[in-house]
Amino acid sequence: MVLQSLHQLYLLGNDIMKGTSSLNTPTTYTVHSREEVGSTNDEVRLLAEQGAHDGTIVWALRQSAGRGRQGRTWVSPVGNLYFSLLLRPGTSIADAANLSFVASLALSDAIRKLDNNLVPRLKWPNDVLISGKKVSGVLLESKADKIGSLDYLIMGIGVNLTHYPEDARYPATSLVEQGLSNKIGPDKLLETFINSFDPWYKLWKKEGFPNVRSAWLDQAHGLGEKIYVRLPGETLSGRFITIDKDGALDLDLDSGKQRLVTAGDVFFAS
Ligand code: BTN
Repeated sequence: MVLQSLHQLYLLGNDIMKGTSSLNTPTTYTVHSREEVGSTNDEVRLLAEQGAHDGTIVWALRQSAGRGRQGRTWVSPVGNLYFSLLLRPGTSIADAANLSFVASLALSDAIRKLDNNLVPRLKWPNDVLISGKKVSGVLLESKADKIGSLDYLIMGIGVNLTHYPEDARYPATSLVEQGLSNKIGPDKLLETFINSFDPWYKLWKKEGFPNVRSAWLDQAHGLGEKIYVRLPGETLSGRFITIDKDGALDLDLDSGKQRLVTAGDVFFAS
């Protein structure tokens, strides 16, 4: 892996990248580090448009215009992890949407590797929860080519390492609040994520969604339980049955009908 333009963290009075000269990851990943950007997703898109390869990453210490799902803001102070991974999986756009589950599985693995006392659970579609609170979010953005096939996918990931928003739509926490050593900086978390992501990505490319789906379901929060799903203009209420073969949320509505949901915000009854 090539680590380019490493910034001096000492300037920020913080330990984050102190002593870091390279991350120990497979050579197919290239990490571009930045002190501050608007959004790492935008930075990696610029690289993608210049032909950057699958596995290109932009990591920033802070973002001034971090984005969350559904047009929300992702507040991005120094101390947390913000990065975007460029992927060119060579699949359809619909299949590439599976990668949001790959991302949350890899994050869960990375967190457990760093502290095996932590027990991450996964909230559909791609949040990681600890003690029922959100520690990370994934924003997927894709670009189609001229004939409508997938050109590339940008997987933007934010992890609350030391900070979390107090007023978030869904209750949040940080890994350090949950007990992770504050000696682990974003660099170590990123390195651990990449090493966790790579085998899942390879497995998914080789075998498709089934293994990813069942591993995700093994860690799913609220399976079989009553949940609410907020959609634009309505809130569904029902029992979380499973995710289907494409990753859609399968809900047994209180009305007795079944509904497959492809986008929305999940809340748990208890
Ligand atoms: C969510 O709403 O849960 C998704 C949040 C995704 C935030 C990350 S931080 C790195 C990347 N850059 C952004 O602007 N957003 C994503």
